[in-house]
Amino acid sequence: MTATLDLSPISQKDLICTSLLQRSDIERIYAVARELKRGRDVHTKVLGNKRLAMIFEKDSLRTRFTFDIGMSDLGGTVSFMDHRDARIGSRESVKDIAKNLERWVHCIVARTFKHKVLEDLAAAADIPVINGLSDHVHPCQALSDFFTLTEKWPSLQGRTLTFVGDGNNTCHSVIHTAVKLGVHIRVCTPEGYEPSARVVNEATRAAHEAGSEVHILNDPQQAVEGADAVYTDVWASMGQEDEIEDRNGLFADYQVDEALMSRAKPGALFMHCLPAHRGKEVAAEVMDGPRSVVYDIAENRLHVQKAILALLIR
Ligand code: CP
Ligand code: NVA
Repeated sequence: MTATLDLSPISQKDLICTSLLQRSDIERIYAVARELKRGRDVHTKVLGNKRLAMIFEKDSLRTRFTFDIGMSDLGGTVSFMDHRDARIGSRESVKDIAKNLERWVHCIVARTFKHKVLEDLAAAADIPVINGLSDHVHPCQALSDFFTLTEKWPSLQGRTLTFVGDGNNTCHSVIHTAVKLGVHIRVCTPEGYEPSARVVNEATRAAHEAGSEVHILNDPQQAVEGADAVYTDVWASMGQEDEIEDRNGLFADYQVDEALMSRAKPGALFMHCLPAHRGKEVAAEVMDGPRSVVYDIAENRLHVQKAILALLIR
């Protein structure tokens, strides 16, 4: 049954970065996700006979499972290629991988180190390519983060979200997505770990259109003051394992604990993309406390990505 789903195409062939989406695309994704979430076992023919290839250079729990389960909920199938031992493009060109896969499957989800590999896959393939995380951005994550906030708050417009920690891939996508949706975004990092200037400049331009603001700070107390939600992610991302010890020292004052949460609005939500490290970027009392929405976000990865698959695959 697909009667309630409007699956006409959105403005993009691919989902590489949320900065490339229109606000109306995000609203369409959310409308479909809400329908799919309402009837998990109802829409089993939406992607009947459609096939998804997943190629991952890095570990994953949430992204892998939710795309796999999501595709099967919609009646499609998945082939997974574990690419953790060699970078995509090392055995044959990224272009040739794309030109082969498009003959067999209807969509590709890739998790890569280099963001350019995703851009090259998308440029070469006639089928949609979805970014399942690159070193630069994590669009499916941020789309699920803000979808979750739409379930918690009557409106996102004018709310303030503070991201505390490393100006990494998740942070970049949270910035890009917040500004499209009218959410004020504050990012607070140690000096030298701020988000990329290009992302901040691009988001600042987009923020102006949606009536939101972007602030980059280094003082966590100031950054969290009066926030509606506080978000953090690991201090060392996949590929930065050699830096963990140095980063644990450098980021120690940026842990999201109860004292920091108490500076935010009463009832402010705690967000994390997971995996999380209790006692490092987040105190256990916050991660496991009543304001934590981390598992709601993880659940919504399924519903939001099903919507993305349903809207992109033809
Ligand atoms: N948040 C997230 O993308 O989790 P995985 O790395 O487990 O996919
Ligand atoms: N920033 C983290 C996100 C994991 C979902 C990483 O890249 O490892």
